[in-house]
Amino acid sequence: MAHGCTFWELTSQRPEFNKLFNHAMASDSSFLCDFIINEHGNVFQKISSLVDVGGGSGSVAIAIAKAFPKMECIVLDLPQVVGHLSTDGLVKFVSGDMFNNIPPADAVFLKHILHDWCDEDCIKILQRCKEAIPSRDDGGKVIVVDIVVGSVGTIHRELQLLVDISMMTVTKGKERDEEEWWNIFKEAGYISYKIVATLGFRSIIEVYP
Ligand SMILES: C[S@@+](CC[C@H](N)C(=O)[O-])C[C@H]1O[C@@H](n2cnc3c(N)ncnc32)[C@H](O)[C@@H]1O
Repeated sequence: MAHGCTFWELTSQRPEFNKLFNHAMASDSSFLCDFIINEHGNVFQKISSLVDVGGGSGSVAIAIAKAFPKMECIVLDLPQVVGHLSTDGLVKFVSGDMFNNIPPADAVFLKHILHDWCDEDCIKILQRCKEAIPSRDDGGKVIVVDIVVGSVGTIHRELQLLVDISMMTVTKGKERDEEEWWNIFKEAGYISYKIVATLGFRSIIEVYP
């Protein structure tokens, strides 16, 4: 608000801030990613292609591509994030807007995306995801890594609420409890979901079309 623009407009206007933010996100991803792949790699079994939507500089997609070499991995993000990155054989970078179009794949991966947005915007993003994936019978799913408020004990719950305040002030997003998640999944046309695992204060949720 102080800058008269949204957070993502600010990252496109300020290269140094953009670099710092993407670096911070990549750090968080490398911290979490090994754990997700090593402990919950079954989430990626039977997937032959995956698009990491809002995948930043690609650290998650690169780690997944290394762990599952037969999988085709794509990273979709804004031009200021991936416009200068070239496809290196492991992952393909696509510059675009997730509200308009998401490249087709068996699975869409959304780590720390939906908590940046209000319910209405999340439903639009989830609808674009649904258009990009096949039916559940053909292996289609969305993999969400985000907070499920109330899914953990007191210490982690305080952290969840702190991140909630941060999302409210920075991007007008919010953290959601299980019922709030199910409401937006349903509204976007999905028929079921499964909370696969809880990793500290965050969770992995599989969402099925
Ligand atoms: C909180 S960061 C998460 C990055 C990464 N998924 C991670 O967890 O490390 C949100 C990402 O969404 C991207 N993003 C924001 N608006 C977008 C849009 N309309 N289309 C595609 N990506 C977008 C940002 O550039 C940023 O990389």
